[in-house]
Amino acid sequence: MNKLFITGGAGFIGSAFVRMLLDEAPGYEIINFDALTYAGNLDNLDNLDAKRHRFIRGDIANRAEVLATLDEGTDAIINFAAESHVDRSIASADEFLRTNIIGTQVLLDAARERGVKRFVQISTDEVMGSLPEDDAAFFTESSPYEPNSPYAASKAAAEHLVRAAHHTFGLDTVVTRCGNNYGPRQFPEKFLPLMISNALRDEPIPLYGDGRNVRDWIYVEDHCRAILLALEKGRAGEIYNIGARNQRRNIEVVETVLRLLGKPTSLVRPVKDRPGHDRRYAIDPAMVEAQLGWRPQETWESGLAKTIEWYRQNAEWVRRARSGEYREFYAKQYGMEVGSV
Ligand SMILES: NC(=O)c1ccc[n+]([C@@H]2O[C@H](COP(=O)([O-])OP(=O)(O)OC[C@H]3O[C@@H](n4cnc5c(N)ncnc54)[C@H](O)[C@@H]3O)[C@@H](O)[C@H]2O)c1
Repeated sequence: MNKLFITGGAGFIGSAFVRMLLDEAPGYEIINFDALTYAGNLDNLDNLDAKRHRFIRGDIANRAEVLATLDEGTDAIINFAAESHVDRSIASADEFLRTNIIGTQVLLDAARERGVKRFVQISTDEVMGSLPEDDAAFFTESSPYEPNSPYAASKAAAEHLVRAAHHTFGLDTVVTRCGNNYGPRQFPEKFLPLMISNALRDEPIPLYGDGRNVRDWIYVEDHCRAILLALEKGRAGEIYNIGARNQRRNIEVVETVLRLLGKPTSLVRPVKDRPGHDRRYAIDPAMVEAQLGWRPQETWESGLAKTIEWYRQNAEWVRRARSGEYREFYAKQYGMEVGSV
């Protein structure tokens, strides 16, 4: 049995990865280490196989907590834990630096101290900045670092630390960089679940600027399958860009969701653009396809249908996620209350 130490496994992508391993990869046993910030949700981990999965609440930036939990003989650390919302990083970067940078270094040090065999860092295309609107430009593994938000800068810093641990100490590391994920259990502050959950309740949908920003969308389980391949077959020291060749303008995404839900486009409310808003992301996945044999299994249409259906069926999950601190954040960010009509 391979022993994995997964951080951030109560969040959106981490919990999808844990579920996928438990369902499809019987050779793994998981310690799921998560601080349960506002984005971590134990509801994401209900009904899991307790023989192969153990949840431990802890902070990756706290060296003592990490070392107390990380066993000798751990095969790999997979670091999903992060502060992950660009808008929050613009409001205040402190937690981003602490978790995304210090936390990553603590994990790298702990990996060496405990003799962990492999370290997988979950990163983002945002470390490479923004592309021109011209359809011919793509991010590749050799695109320069040009992070534009405090979030992206903190993730780029984390990548540098991972690279340094590989180069200087010979730690076996792999970095995966992905675009915008969508799927079940994403915290409703993010674009797609916000849009779906607002539309389901006939509430207005805030849309930044002219709505023409382009994102490259990938279904969360397709991302998770690529991470598993990177864990099992990725080359030490390598970076893999993961994308499903699925660029969409934000306005097109909103209109598609509203059409699928049978809701009017009059729900859309343009709001002041995000400062420094990246215009376009687009990933060239040729390397992950060629080296690791990865291909997405979902199309945009099938993934979106599954996602919408999940939010439709899980109104209680959404209600709980949208309570408390979320209401305060939302009012400040968009100048309107959650639930305003
Ligand atoms: N969501 C996307 O579209 C996307 C795209 C590319 C890359 N990523 C990266 O994937 C990873 C997971 O993203 P997500 O969308 O699931 O994020 P998320 O915000 O849903 O979850 C993050 C998780 O990390 C935990 N966490 C935060 N600080 C912690 C700390 N100090 N110690 C331990 N746990 C902590 C939270 O409790 C939460 O469970 C992140 O590293 C993010 O940068 C996300």
